[in-house]
Amino acid sequence: MPDFATWTAEQRARVERALSDWVPVDAPAGLGEAMRYAVLDGGKRVRPLLVLAAAEAVQGHAEAALRAACASELIHAYSLVHDDMPCMDDDVLRRGKPTAHVQFGEAQALLAGDALQALAFELLTPDGDAVPPAMQAELCRLLARAAGAQGMAGGQAIDLASVGKPLTEPQLRAMHKLKTGALLQASVDMGAACGVGVPLAARGALRDYGAAVGLAFQVVDDILDVTADSAELGKTAGKDAAADKPTYVSLLGLQASRALADDLRAQAHAALDASGLHHTGRLRALADRVVERSN
Ligand code: IPE
Ligand code: IPE
Ligand code: MG
Ligand code: MG
Ligand code: MG
Repeated sequence: MPDFATWTAEQRARVERALSDWVPVDAPAGLGEAMRYAVLDGGKRVRPLLVLAAAEAVQGHAEAALRAACASELIHAYSLVHDDMPCMDDDVLRRGKPTAHVQFGEAQALLAGDALQALAFELLTPDGDAVPPAMQAELCRLLARAAGAQGMAGGQAIDLASVGKPLTEPQLRAMHKLKTGALLQASVDMGAACGVGVPLAARGALRDYGAAVGLAFQVVDDILDVTADSAELGKTAGKDAAADKPTYVSLLGLQASRALADDLRAQAHAALDASGLHHTGRLRALADRVVERSN
């Protein structure tokens, strides 16, 4: 069995190839170029890795898992394009490059985001019998829910409505769970949904794992906004304080935020231990990576 670094490199390469095959070069009026710019050659690919690791834990359907991995990254890439636009966070740097609207203009960036979102669902619903129809439907449902009003988009709305407002810890937690946690949790759930006959208790444990990792991810994002520099992050550091956004660091301070991230990692590990599944090593290592990352 390959070590974690080798596995990660292999899975990232698979995802990169698949995305490059699936994100169209020839969409009208330069739209394909903007879509490819937003998705290819960048990003840590944490959501695809979570899908693939969860699918491994349940010995899931390989073709479905690769499609779900790419679909989660497409939704994420679309959310970043829109998040960076002047009407939202107004950022000029993303993944070490100018943001999509800086490169292509606001209208094209908006449309690239729209088209990436649609493509995610197209990938989950291939023609023929490559993926069983019931599995396709569940994958679509999980992703749609995580992307929409009860997930990422709803969380982003709370984020924008919260500028300059001190939130309580439960309010901040609820916002982070939606804007970032939902898609990460859905990535784990989608990987699990690629399995057949997975016990309900195992599905529930993986859901708990995804919830903990999903929240930890945004807590660490808040920390890195303060502690890392822009070159390391590939995006502008210090934006949260500059924009007066409520974050875990502004609410609890750095030390307590780090302690929370560690606690969430322990919760994620405990959920895996309780899952009754045998092949959870990748998920375990990914929880470590999410908390220990430096970008
Ligand atoms: C950044 O996500 C936005 C958040 C949801 C916190 P990532 O840190 O996963 O960004 P990439 O994909 O590696 O660029
Ligand atoms: C973004 O949160 C969450 C998304 C849904 C894109 P942030 O606004 O903190 O993400 P960054 O820091 O710009 O990557
Ligand atoms: Mg934002
Ligand atoms: Mg932002
Ligand atoms: Mg951030």
